[in-house]
Amino acid sequence: MDAERLIQMLNQDLRMEHSLVLRYMTLANGLDPSTQKELISEFQMLSRESISHSGMVAEMIHQLGGTPTTELTQYEHNTDLKRVLEASIQIEITARDNYRTACNEVEGHMHKALSMLANEEQTHIDILKNALNRLS
Ligand SMILES: [Fe+2]
Repeated sequence: MDAERLIQMLNQDLRMEHSLVLRYMTLANGLDPSTQKELISEFQMLSRESISHSGMVAEMIHQLGGTPTTELTQYEHNTDLKRVLEASIQIEITARDNYRTACNEVEGHMHKALSMLANEEQTHIDILKNALNRLS
């Protein structure tokens, strides 16, 4: 894969991370703290980690000679929490798989960083699946 294609791919991941920062923060702020304390702190943590991921990905794009995007991926809005969690799991699976694919294309510290990102997305998937199980 050439650098241009890798930059395109990472910018796609960056759009996704930007959207996840806002998505999880908005979700955390929309829940009732008296009944959803655990889920609120999970969403807050997921939002913080998505900020950290977007910073790492932007830095990689910069190192590859590209321009990190400020765009967002648009996702369908849903007020049903179960649906929101299911959709979030799918987004995180896409993010994990994208990082794994990009990871296989590079070596050295970027390989390590992308592998770590893929592992953290797996943790996000597990957190969201647990939250979904608690709902049902
Ligand atoms: Fe994530």
